[in-house]
Amino acid sequence: MPVLKNINDFAAFKKEKVPISMITCYEYGFARLVEQSDIDVILVGDSLGNVVAGYDTTIPVTVDQMIYHAELVRRGAPSKFLVCDLPFMSYHVSVEDSLRNAGDIMKKTGSSAVKLEGGEDFVPVVRALVKASIPVMGHLGLTPQSVHKLGGHTVQGRDEDKRKALLRDAKALEEAGAFSVVLEMVPESLAKEITESLSIPTIGIGGGRYCDGQVLVINDMLGMNEKFNPKFLKKYADISSMAIAAFNEYNSEVKSGAFPAEKNAFKSEKKDESGKVYST
Ligand code: KIV
Repeated sequence: MPVLKNINDFAAFKKEKVPISMITCYEYGFARLVEQSDIDVILVGDSLGNVVAGYDTTIPVTVDQMIYHAELVRRGAPSKFLVCDLPFMSYHVSVEDSLRNAGDIMKKTGSSAVKLEGGEDFVPVVRALVKASIPVMGHLGLTPQSVHKLGGHTVQGRDEDKRKALLRDAKALEEAGAFSVVLEMVPESLAKEITESLSIPTIGIGGGRYCDGQVLVINDMLGMNEKFNPKFLKKYADISSMAIAAFNEYNSEVKSGAFPAEKNAFKSEKKDESGKVYST
């Protein structure tokens, strides 16, 4: 399998029909593990608002929080292509403001690119970022930062008008210079049509089988929240059960005195009359 090293490989992977794998990551410990895996791309998603901070939406997430988390991830995963989300309101006020925020993220985190939500409306921002040499990944369909406008975290593009609008948005992002686009929670047939109409790769989450790549939230795919079971999600591990079982085993061993055992205890050193060092 080819290794995705830089922005040029996105188009190359699409051309060669090599699916792109992307996973979110928010901190050093998991980043170290992803670094040792074959996954192509890491996204420091503003979903950290949900899965790390416990907010209901991604709206409270700030640029400073994104910078903090992306720095941690980059330290753990120095070799991966790293995309950092632009959070809500960091690219909505003006092109200048967007450039400043995205520039800050690039300077302070070692990210390879930024991601923003939205289509035609954000073309001036995408153009300006790309002109400033900041690679941009788009994000269409369910755009969680617009949850209040959309009325919930629901499948997008089901009716004909919305389908056409999303196709237009995808084309607009490509023409503005985006190097790829995430398609979240859209009907499979629409994701397929968009994928076939673009030369840049699409990366799906709830977009079905025909996108050029897939992305999953690390906490979700590891099964860290037993209550989160949307249709599009596949859990590749059951960390919540494993972790709770480990916590309970530790608790009972502390209570019973089985932990710490002798092998977990440090020894003090003493010298005998001849000066020989021994442990007690
Ligand atoms: O923030 C995020 O994790 C994302 C993915 C769901 C694509 O944007």
